[in-house]
Amino acid sequence: MKNNNFKISEIYNTFKKAFKNKPKGHHDPIFLGNEKKYLNQCISSGYVSYVGNFVNLFEKKVSSFTKSKFAVATSSGTSALHLVLKYFNLSEKDEVLLPSLTYVATANAITYCGATPNFLDIENDSLGICPKKLQMYINKTTVKVGSHLFNKKTKRKIKALIAVHLYGFPCRIKEIRKICKKHNILLIEDAAEAFGSYFDKKHLGTFGDAGILSFNGNKPITCGSGGAILVNNKGMSKRLKHLSTHAKKNSLYDHVHDEIGYNYRMNNLSAAVGCAQIENIKKILLAKRKNFKWYQKIFKRLKYVKILKEPKFSKTNYWLITAILENKNIKNKLLKKLKPKGYGLRTTWRPLHSLKIFKHCPKDTMKNSNNFFEVAINFPSSPKINYK
Ligand SMILES: Cc1ncc(COP(=O)(O)O)c(C=O)c1O
Repeated sequence: MKNNNFKISEIYNTFKKAFKNKPKGHHDPIFLGNEKKYLNQCISSGYVSYVGNFVNLFEKKVSSFTKSKFAVATSSGTSALHLVLKYFNLSEKDEVLLPSLTYVATANAITYCGATPNFLDIENDSLGICPKKLQMYINKTTVKVGSHLFNKKTKRKIKALIAVHLYGFPCRIKEIRKICKKHNILLIEDAAEAFGSYFDKKHLGTFGDAGILSFNGNKPITCGSGGAILVNNKGMSKRLKHLSTHAKKNSLYDHVHDEIGYNYRMNNLSAAVGCAQIENIKKILLAKRKNFKWYQKIFKRLKYVKILKEPKFSKTNYWLITAILENKNIKNKLLKKLKPKGYGLRTTWRPLHSLKIFKHCPKDTMKNSNNFFEVAINFPSSPKINYK
């Protein structure tokens, strides 16, 4: 019988052998084409802020790639989320359902509006909200008043649900959408990690009332920092753009703002990088798919390391390669052994219900989220690892 220490040594030796000349970082970005050229064009033109051709061009490229009718480019995925929730007038009288296993920005955006996160468990295959458990939770904890659901205990309205596509894996978005429709709950998709991921051949972020993307430095393609909102309604896209630019009215001579707006528009420099990046999206996604196959192959021998494969109903971007280890001791010791040696291994996101800042928030039972956090780990996932 092999003990934990033996297993950790085997994993370490496998990493050492496989990563000989490969970048070990967590998710180093890859720049393959026109990034410098487009940045130089911005600088020569003097348009480096949010007025400039690249911002509009980037929006066109994002909407064409995702087949969303409209894309509104923002300064980050977080600002995109905040803007969407503001658009829907979220307030302190509202609660928003979301999975506990997500990056903190999802819940933060809810609290920026004064609303309260209401945390749900994940399911093990899709890593997203489990539709069955969601319906049971709704039955148990809410009551219908008029056309809306209200939390029985807190009396707040269940106004929206944010479906998160964790690590680029799609959640069961169609079933979740059905439940949201039935109960008159707004559906927002946090597809920050899912650019280049599909459910039934439809790009993630295009199923709900709005979807958001992130183009942060660690994402499959990057603008340095940036995000986008995906919507199918022209009026909505116009108003979101307006809100993202201080709600400034068009005027040659005057500064007129017709509501409280935000400085959330993407700038031209970021958009220039994004335009160059999206030109190579196919090559980048291919390299990331190769990462998955490569890890599968090198860890095939070790039965106590299971590399997560995309769900059947999907095609994912394999944003962060995620492995399930046999127990939490292996995970914790492995991190301690490999991190100081420069390998970009990370724990998964910590389930948000376990953070002090969200202790007061309502939540479902969290068996799967807690267990996932204990035994799952993210491996180095840059497209550079297997780009040829
Ligand atoms: C699930 C999720 N939501 C939102 C965000 C926020 O995106 P950004 O970092 O662009 O603000 C991230 C970023 O990693 C994320 O992973």
